[in-house]
Amino acid sequence: MTLLARHLPGRVRTRATRRARRRSAAALMTVTACVATLASAPAQAGTPTYRDARAPVQQRVADLLGRMTLKEKAGQMDQIAVARMQGDCEWSGGALDETCMKTVLDDYAAGSVLSGGGMGPEKNTPSDWARMVNSVQKYAVENSRLHIPVLYGVDAVHGHNNVLGATVFPHQIGLGATWDARTVRDSGAATARAVAATGIDWNFSPVADLARDQRWGRYYETYGEDPLLAGALAAAATRGTEHAGGAKRVAATVKHFAGYSEPSNGHDRVPADVSMRYLQDTLLAPYRRAIEAGADSVMVNSGAVNGVPATSSHYLLTDVLREQWGFKGVAVTDWEDIRALQAKYKVAADYPEAIALAVNAGIDMAMEPYHAKEFTDGLLTAVRRGLVKERRIDEAVARILRLKFELGLFEDPYVDAGEADDAVLGADRALARKAATDSQVLLRNEGATLPVPRDARKIVVAGSYADDIDSQAGGWTIGWQRVPEGVELPGTTVLEGIRSAAPKGTDVVHAKTAEEAAGQAATADLNVVVVGEKAAAEGEADTPRPELSADQQKLVKTLKASGKPVVVVVIAGRPLALGDASGTEGLLMAWLPGTEGGHAVADVLFGRANPGGRLPVSWPKKTGNEPMYYQQLPGTNAGTESAYDAAHAFGDGLSYTRYAFDAVRPSRTSVAPGDAVRLKVTVSNTGRRGGELVVPVYVSRPVSDVLAPARKLAAFTRVALKAGQSRTVAMTVPARVLAVTPGDIDGAGTPRVERGAYEFTAGGRTAEVTVR
Ligand code: NOJ
Repeated sequence: MTLLARHLPGRVRTRATRRARRRSAAALMTVTACVATLASAPAQAGTPTYRDARAPVQQRVADLLGRMTLKEKAGQMDQIAVARMQGDCEWSGGALDETCMKTVLDDYAAGSVLSGGGMGPEKNTPSDWARMVNSVQKYAVENSRLHIPVLYGVDAVHGHNNVLGATVFPHQIGLGATWDARTVRDSGAATARAVAATGIDWNFSPVADLARDQRWGRYYETYGEDPLLAGALAAAATRGTEHAGGAKRVAATVKHFAGYSEPSNGHDRVPADVSMRYLQDTLLAPYRRAIEAGADSVMVNSGAVNGVPATSSHYLLTDVLREQWGFKGVAVTDWEDIRALQAKYKVAADYPEAIALAVNAGIDMAMEPYHAKEFTDGLLTAVRRGLVKERRIDEAVARILRLKFELGLFEDPYVDAGEADDAVLGADRALARKAATDSQVLLRNEGATLPVPRDARKIVVAGSYADDIDSQAGGWTIGWQRVPEGVELPGTTVLEGIRSAAPKGTDVVHAKTAEEAAGQAATADLNVVVVGEKAAAEGEADTPRPELSADQQKLVKTLKASGKPVVVVVIAGRPLALGDASGTEGLLMAWLPGTEGGHAVADVLFGRANPGGRLPVSWPKKTGNEPMYYQQLPGTNAGTESAYDAAHAFGDGLSYTRYAFDAVRPSRTSVAPGDAVRLKVTVSNTGRRGGELVVPVYVSRPVSDVLAPARKLAAFTRVALKAGQSRTVAMTVPARVLAVTPGDIDGAGTPRVERGAYEFTAGGRTAEVTVR
């Protein structure tokens, strides 16, 4: 089965599917009103402990584990795609089929089911999703010998993005540009509520990888290039997801642990070669923050790091994750990755050997979307061959069962499908609009071209991305790659947003072709050109040349030639080298802002919102210098392309007001190596309108034992400031942020804080702290 086949939309069906659908329709009753079946009633004499809701979770786990056969335990460790239970059981999509469900949930007692990248019900509505998930759950609960519910997982990575009519939030890269943990937390909570309303318990989000290589297709799924920013926001998303207060609790997943974002040639899932120093000091930090925020699960990197696939790395999955960090939750592989140990990486001779490698390394659950039978048989064979101990299986299954008990699945496995449409359709649009607005990064505003002057009579809106809701939403929307052909995504395009925000009397002209744009531009008061890149996901979104297409560059060049002001709005998941499209009066990065993005862009253009977003990544001048990130180490020649020389640097962003920074004030100028550094900085809005200011504090080392980047983000916050207002913000830099791995080239020791001087800079003002 190819990678593509895995996310085939439910629309693709065969005749066999239709037959199967008729068969299954009769067999499956709706479980809309079906609630609380198992242990919700008071425990009676003879009720097994695991079904007693009042018993401590640990006892329930032990009791249930003690009743399970080895084969049932192996089943719990398997996660299968819902597509294997639909239609012809062979990836056709369609209605759930009882025969297929029997194989997966009864014969092989799979412990978990996923809807990966768009695998939905026949009809894509929230209530149909809820009915589908309820039906799967009902089958598992009623037919498995011990009535164990399944954990149902989904990729709701920017809102409940597979569900038609659900509000689509900005992708993570846009949320990274807000530098605002509260907005990220609230977006995570809103997503979790929508997910919960459709009966789903487990969200494969957030991503804690870094965006350092502009060529990599999953760049937009991250919160940016900086480990501190990415970690703080991944932690906020985790908290939001797990404390959302919806119809049920939803577990978060920190992915893709670890080092996934460093493919050596920029292509997805290509092995990474990174030093231990870089792994420890940079790459691991964001996952750790999210895990410390309480993440229930971790999804493992599909790639290999330093010659070992992450899925079979005992070092990553046990030494670091469990022993160093104390993680207690579930470690799940990514898509078919145990099989990859044999088929792709060739570190195992056969499937049972591959399973043994992964399970012994620390994997608790295999995302084995295709073959429940093969996984169970393979694990049993591995045990028979003496490759895996039953004790290790018990440990993994105990973690899975604990999560099921903690999520309340034994008491309340279903949701009320009748409530799902109300809970999901159009929910939290105001929040998604705020998130999109806060993520806008204004990078050029020559001659105060923006906000659009009130007396502007004619605005020309050009570029195909101006009216393209699918590109605005990006990959992972309804379908895996993008919104599938023929599906209409509700939402507001940039053109529609501009039309609804333009003052009365302002003519908004949509130039559909380059010729029309050229003809209209000369008489316009302002030309807005919306450019971008087409939606795609994973490897299909890789590009060896992350730049604006030649035809779009030409369009902008033509408009520039009109002599009238031009504002370029970019709808893309990464900074694109702009070439001939550079140097316009205005440049606004809108990212992949989702269904409310049109309003967000218009609010900024017309000045209803004061832009406060800052780049969470570096914007290269031209292609060929990837990977590019501001923490590149020194040693390169300043002024040449080998040095950090961005068109727009990490942290850049303008607003419609002016801000001033007072001196950074550390509470102590000399600290011990394990101490946190506490800082205060007073910031003021010296302009004439209110706004929100991102306050980053960077740390530099005048001298250090191992190379230190010229500056490194040490703390940040985002504060609202009315015109004329000043505020003093307090920030703490934990010692861990300053720690680096000591030693020579082979450095692999525990990171520690070097003694010596540390310079903390905010807004160009610096204070020194000595670690004594
Ligand atoms: C593969 C992707 O790498 C991962 O992010 C996603 O959660 C799983 N597939 C499930 O769809």
